[in-house]
Amino acid sequence: MDFRVALIPGDGIGPEIVAEARKVLDAVAVKYGHRFTYETLLMGGCSIDACGVPLTEEAVAAAKASDAVLLGAVGGDVGNSRWYSVAPGLRPEAGLLKIRKELELFANIRPAYLYEELKAACPLRDEIIGEGFDMVIMRELTGGLYFGVHETKEEDGLRKATDVLNYNEEEIRRIAVKGFEVAMKRRKNVISVDKANVLDSSRLWRKVVEEVAADYPEVKLTHMLVDNCAMQLVKDPAQFDVILTENMFGDILSDEASMVTGSIGMLSSASLGAGKLGLYEPSHGSAPDIAGQGIANPIATVLSAAMMLRYSFDLDREADAVEAAVRQVLKEGWRTCDIYSEGTKKVGTAEMGDLIAARV
Ligand code: NAI
Ligand code: MG
Repeated sequence: MDFRVALIPGDGIGPEIVAEARKVLDAVAVKYGHRFTYETLLMGGCSIDACGVPLTEEAVAAAKASDAVLLGAVGGDVGNSRWYSVAPGLRPEAGLLKIRKELELFANIRPAYLYEELKAACPLRDEIIGEGFDMVIMRELTGGLYFGVHETKEEDGLRKATDVLNYNEEEIRRIAVKGFEVAMKRRKNVISVDKANVLDSSRLWRKVVEEVAADYPEVKLTHMLVDNCAMQLVKDPAQFDVILTENMFGDILSDEASMVTGSIGMLSSASLGAGKLGLYEPSHGSAPDIAGQGIANPIATVLSAAMMLRYSFDLDREADAVEAAVRQVLKEGWRTCDIYSEGTKKVGTAEMGDLIAARV
């Protein structure tokens, strides 16, 4: 079959890791007789440099016209980069927020899985890991603090800043439905994470999640406060199957969960809306500290491409093949430096991509 993929390499390590995911997709195309045509779009700092804005309307239109979007990461060194000396709406991350909003990608699916082979890279002791770690974070992506009113001003000689956290019941319901749907295909256990002891938006979140849960009697629902959840993730990670949560809590908790898997370089993600068009990207950022060195781990991006095959193209067999290839490479002992441990074999970004593509 034919699919149009919009590639957005972005900044920092973005181009390096997207190139490897493309390699793997090309191997899939050859093996299974598909055709992927790519259109490369600018977003983030590279778009600011070329076009003056982090995402042009033309790029948005091209993304909308594609079957799926594969993204690296955007942004630079926040403290030092020239891209951050401008208004917030013109910074690299604004491109990311804009494309999520324009494509109405309200559901961010972030699987966190600890490969047996990477146990040595996991900072938790074996007895804490227990039966293993295999969970999904369902993060609401187009509401909450990221899209509320932001304001900085000076009042009575004091500098003040405000960020508004806003949710309506429709926004909560649609991500909750996706969360329960995902849980139905897994261990049927949803932990909804909020801060209902303090926030009104969280109290509404709880109510709406309860309403949705009524349609899924087979799924066990538990509510957990976000601070407790942060603790539980490192105290007893095996208890988690699906975490359902709002935008910022999901952002923070998924970075925490990533460390249980050994490295943030392993964490893939899919951002979905109501239709088939999705955006796929690693959960990490542009890692300016290691950009250009050829050492970034491309696995998160490769696994994101596998999610693209699965969710946007309905190519389950092909997605399975990519995931199996990643597992095989790890089993053979190949590691980028973020997941390296003694006795394994260190490789760079491009070699890791070659190894995975060859095993597809
Ligand atoms: P980051 O995720 O880019 O890096 C955090 C740490 O993890 C760094 O030490 C980095 O070297 C390491 N790391 C990340 N990905 C890796 C990989 N694939 N292989 C090996 N090591 C990896 O987060 P940070 O440093 O907070 O942000 C850097 C820039 O990225 C900022 O401009 C930030 O705004 C942006 N960012 C962009 C995101 C996106 O495009 N979706 C998401 C998060 C941050
Ligand atoms: Mg983040």
